[in-house]
Amino acid sequence: MKKPDIRSILKESSLPRLETEILASFLLGQSREYLLTHPETGISHALYGRYKNLETKRLEGWPIAYLTGQKEFYGLSFKVNPAVLTPRPETEMMVEEIIAAAKRDKSKKAPLIVDLGTGSGAIIVASATELRKLSPALFMKTKFMAVDISRQALNIAKENSLAHKLGRRIEFLHGNLLTPLKLNERKLAGRHLIIAANLPYLTKSQIKDSPSIQREPKLALDGGPGGLKYYKELFRQLADLELSGIHARILCEIDPAQTVKIRSLIKKYLPQAELKIKKDLSRKDRLAIIQKAD
Ligand SMILES: C[S@@+](CC[C@H](N)C(=O)[O-])C[C@H]1O[C@@H](n2cnc3c(N)ncnc32)[C@H](O)[C@@H]1O
Repeated sequence: MKKPDIRSILKESSLPRLETEILASFLLGQSREYLLTHPETGISHALYGRYKNLETKRLEGWPIAYLTGQKEFYGLSFKVNPAVLTPRPETEMMVEEIIAAAKRDKSKKAPLIVDLGTGSGAIIVASATELRKLSPALFMKTKFMAVDISRQALNIAKENSLAHKLGRRIEFLHGNLLTPLKLNERKLAGRHLIIAANLPYLTKSQIKDSPSIQREPKLALDGGPGGLKYYKELFRQLADLELSGIHARILCEIDPAQTVKIRSLIKKYLPQAELKIKKDLSRKDRLAIIQKAD
């Protein structure tokens, strides 16, 4: 039997060309440019077989990121597996808002940045990395925390934190939303609280109707009836917290169809807070920015 080469992969694959190149490049440890300029390079039958296995899994609906075990977010590489949501490009605006909030604070208080539902750790790791780059002094006085209800997700988030040389700068906590943080006025005194929450916000029918997300963890997607179960619980927890005198900014990623409902939930649970809705790059409502003044 003729020894396969790169050309055989590129020619015989049943996947779209870009996906073939990404998977082959991952498997062979070569750039996509190399594949195109060296199609005659021979590969072993074993390697060709491994490519075919990846191709089959992709055809079965596995996200490319789970097959390669990594995903780019905010220009950084993150380890992912089926225990975590693959970070989405639209979530990158959350990092921009966190950095802006940390830098803009006029109270000059040291920020406490909390990532609720951290998953792969993409938001908190990218925010800490960016702050370290842009403002080392502010980075040094900032406290970083991340929470998830999934222990498997927390393990991946910790690995990503280490891979980006954040060592013990991020405190990872297991539990339901704000509960494991045991926040109180004493702990928050002198801090500017910034909460980033990309909690599950899809409805069961949205999940059912989206073939591309079927392999991602339901725990990361399913926001209960109406999709706002977790945000409602978060606002209730925030309302119970004695936050008088605390400067807090809460950023929530939402589905564009949830704007009206999220407005009324905030009005109900946090009546004193200001709300701004920010659109993503495709001009869809994406981020609810809640400002609680001192
Ligand atoms: C939509 S994913 C977001 C992951 C990551 N922050 C991102 O932006 O890519 C939601 C995350 O919330 C976690 N989660 C679900 N319910 C939770 C709860 N009650 N408390 C804390 N985390 C929760 C899930 O395990 C999942 O990792």
